[in-house]
Amino acid sequence: MRMYDLIERKKHGGRLSRGELHDMIRGFVDGEIPDYQMSAMLMAIYFQGMDEEETLGLTLEMAASGDMVDLSGIEGIKVDKHSTGGVGDKTTLVIGPLAASLGVKVAKMSGKGLGHTGGTIDKLESIPGLCTAVSRQRFFEIVNETGIAVIGQSGNMVPADKKLYALRDVTATVDSIPLIASSIMSKKIAAGSDGIVLDVKTGSGAFMKSLEDSVALAKEMVAIGTGAGRRCCALITDMDVPLGSAIGNSLEVREAVETLKGRGPGDLTEVCLQLCSHMLYMAGKGDLDSCYALARDAMADGRGLKTLAAMVKAQGGDETYILDPDRFPKAPYVREVKADRDGRVTHIDTAGCGIASAMLGAGRQKKEDVIDYSAGICLHKKYGEEVRKGDLLAVLYASREELLDGASQKLMDAYTIGDGDVEAKKLVYGQVTGDGVEMF
Ligand code: URA
Repeated sequence: MRMYDLIERKKHGGRLSRGELHDMIRGFVDGEIPDYQMSAMLMAIYFQGMDEEETLGLTLEMAASGDMVDLSGIEGIKVDKHSTGGVGDKTTLVIGPLAASLGVKVAKMSGKGLGHTGGTIDKLESIPGLCTAVSRQRFFEIVNETGIAVIGQSGNMVPADKKLYALRDVTATVDSIPLIASSIMSKKIAAGSDGIVLDVKTGSGAFMKSLEDSVALAKEMVAIGTGAGRRCCALITDMDVPLGSAIGNSLEVREAVETLKGRGPGDLTEVCLQLCSHMLYMAGKGDLDSCYALARDAMADGRGLKTLAAMVKAQGGDETYILDPDRFPKAPYVREVKADRDGRVTHIDTAGCGIASAMLGAGRQKKEDVIDYSAGICLHKKYGEEVRKGDLLAVLYASREELLDGASQKLMDAYTIGDGDVEAKKLVYGQVTGDGVEMF
């Protein structure tokens, strides 16, 4: 194989065979194919795309480029869940324990936040003592004992994605559907679960801003999942406005706990119940309606919360923070952001809210940045709500006073207060399964 020939072919819209994809990924991971040739290939894929079979081949080759996790040491059906990322997205902390409390095994590897989006690992690490870097053996033991463990990606998993993502990041080739789909699904396939429920976000705070692109990404990922022999489905959910009210790590854990007590914000609760019912359905717990009822009951009677506390304890964390979230340290500096006119919240720039939260110290701009777990934002007015001049829109929390001015301006700019009615937004726009796309 000559990499030059493959680039030339892809540049003109040709296909790459499975054997060629194998050699290309192997050669790139081993350092035989230089970054400049892979960059040219990524740009060719960006413009010419890949067909379904090619994307599946690329994904499987990427997944096999490092360790593949064998979850057979965990009894029962293992179902993973993945969100394409957003602002205020604490669904894993709710639906993982909820599904586990109903007998699904959740052996989950999650990521850290970067840029305007948060990451589950950072949220979990805001719980004192909790360790997200446990050995493989301990990971299996915790899942067998409590039904769920959530850890960081360990060892040498999918090195091809680490190298490719770093290159995409600096060559303006991140926003390509086959490249995003193969990047996400290679990690999910290597993580070993029997089933994968995908939460594909759409809107201003999501990777995919348009519904059309979100559906296309969901279709591509579901085709890969089923092509790889896994049960796989996707829900397309809204990320045009932040999910729930809390943005920032310990603030989001508190909101997840409230949701597991049945007292969470309506939008977060509904998205969690729908995603959870798909996890249960995938594990054979009944039809979708009865799975929804099971999830709702486990929320109402506190089984999900008990499972979260058990997981936190098993991972070395102090579970009293789950039982009494008032124990989380409060940021010493607080700023209220108020409406500067009467009207209605006609838009919230979700990425802007995420950036404001990161400016307060809750997120990182570079991988090395240190997170302030107590920093963040609580939104008091959401999309469509009426406001009067002087009403509280949001409260900002920070550990350094000088961070408040810039962040509060950013948050103020993220709110649009206008006149007249707003269009109702759906929480879940549709679902994609192996049988096709169904829009709601
Ligand atoms: N998340 C990933 O893991 N990869 C992408 O390409 C985009 C989002």
